[in-house]
Amino acid sequence: MAEQPTLGEILKKSEEFLVRKAIDNARGDARRLLAHGLGIAPMQVLLQFERPLTDAEVATLRALVVRRSQNEPLQHILGTVGFRHLEIRCDARALVPRNETEQIVDEVLSRVKGTPKARVHEVGIGTGCISLSLRHERADLRVTASDISPDALALAGRNAQILGIWVPMLRMDLLAGIRPDSLDAVVSNPPYIASREIAKLSAEVQADPLLALDGGADGLDIFRRLVPQALDALKPGGWLVAEHGFDQGISTRELCGQGWTDVATVRDLSGQDRFLVAQKE
Ligand SMILES: C[S@@+](CC[C@H](N)C(=O)[O-])C[C@H]1O[C@@H](n2cnc3c(N)ncnc32)[C@H](O)[C@@H]1O
Repeated sequence: MAEQPTLGEILKKSEEFLVRKAIDNARGDARRLLAHGLGIAPMQVLLQFERPLTDAEVATLRALVVRRSQNEPLQHILGTVGFRHLEIRCDARALVPRNETEQIVDEVLSRVKGTPKARVHEVGIGTGCISLSLRHERADLRVTASDISPDALALAGRNAQILGIWVPMLRMDLLAGIRPDSLDAVVSNPPYIASREIAKLSAEVQADPLLALDGGADGLDIFRRLVPQALDALKPGGWLVAEHGFDQGISTRELCGQGWTDVATVRDLSGQDRFLVAQKE
């Protein structure tokens, strides 16, 4: 009878297979997938190199690695992604939360710091990562959120339920149903990729819903509507905080004309222009 393969051997084979399939970060992904399949922490994969695997375990791991080799996003296979302090469920119904977006929560929190029970509305909730983090990190905030996608709202609702964090959510086009002068902050990570660029993106990014990516001809269609709507919805002195592409700092600032003050671009941790911040006069 053939000897059972060890976890170390399967890790090596999986990594080599993913490299042959041109998967970025083949080593890291192979380790995460094997850990997921065996229900252990990724670090344990390295500590259990000599562990013999059963036929059933090998079959489970092979199926996961094959899915990744076909460009299915790692986060969809794992089913969750870490975002700040939360474990967020993710699947094809909404954008996979990105690392650089974590900072938008700090940008909002620092601007409503001196405002107890500040009213914050998120446009385009996706998985819920931003709104749920805001509520989790400042329980007194009155956070509401919306999305035009029923799929995203269903996923965000499920995340809220699992995490036990209460954020009222509704289906709405941008800020259409929000009372004028009622918000202390509007936060959004809207779709901002130019339509013609989408076909050039990696297969993993293209697994995100088109509605979460496509910002029209120059990527700024949503910004052009969001900026004036936010001006209307914010209280005097309220803040708009919105994520954008690395090359959209100037053009998003230019959209904030009369009625806005303190218009600025905040860079992300890699030094790229990333967030428009603007205060209503
Ligand atoms: C880039 S995703 C961001 C999701 C999540 N907030 C995040 O940061 O991971 C943009 C979201 O905006 C939503 N969206 C697109 N157009 C919209 C509109 N007109 N009104 C409201 N939401 C919209 C999409 O469905 C998508 O969930």
